Amino acid sequence: MRYGIISDIHSNIEALNVALSNLTEKQVDIIVALGDIVGYGPDPEECVNIIMSKSIVSVMGNHDFGLNSLDYENYFNTYARDAIRWTRNRVSEQTKSFIKELPLFVEKEHFTMFHGSLSERNPFRYIISQGDAIESFDNLKTPIGFFGHSHIPGVFSMGKDKKIEYIRGAPHERIDLKDDYRYLINVGSVGQPRDGIPLGSFIIFDSELLNVEFVRFKYDIEKVYNKIIGRGLPPFLGERLFMGF
Ligand SMILES: [Fe+2]
Repeated sequence: MRYGIISDIHSNIEALNVALSNLTEKQVDIIVALGDIVGYGPDPEECVNIIMSKSIVSVMGNHDFGLNSLDYENYFNTYARDAIRWTRNRVSEQTKSFIKELPLFVEKEHFTMFHGSLSERNPFRYIISQGDAIESFDNLKTPIGFFGHSHIPGVFSMGKDKKIEYIRGAPHERIDLKDDYRYLINVGSVGQPRDGIPLGSFIIFDSELLNVEFVRFKYDIEKVYNKIIGRGLPPFLGERLFMGF
């Protein structure tokens, strides 16, 4: 089975449309999403509509959670807070209730999907370092966990000796996975990459060949920037897209 795994769309419909057409070209069997459908970008309703209409299974991200929780705003930086307030006024009740029902974790046959971490205390903890990954490896019940949240594609691997190693997911790299290792794999962000490369990111996981491919794609950043400015979102949220962080 070939899975297209997308995350952190962040209301960027231009990037989402390109990601989906790339996934069609690459003939994936199933597309799944790892949360943060909304937040930051100018087209939340449209992005949620696509996820719903294509029946793409998604988990809940912290921005998705913030859409329905006023208290959670306190954990956001100013830009994220301004954007989620703007988003609340922009989306339909149907979108709000769809987002509210998203699960935090989904276990599939070959892998587990989550947004931030498998920490019992904080599902939105960041996994940046090998140390951060320990708790999620402890709670991982499948050989592989796919996640997003930091918007930085990469692979944490754990061998039998329990040593955790990390490599960045370089653009267009295909990485073979070992069947006696366990993995936590960050798929990067469709709509707001933060690894210094201003290209959308997703991965393809082939469960038979046991490999992952880090795909990057161009999209019309100028168009998204103009919508961000025109719709009254903080200009920085548009500027950062050109820089990829
Ligand atoms: Fe995010």
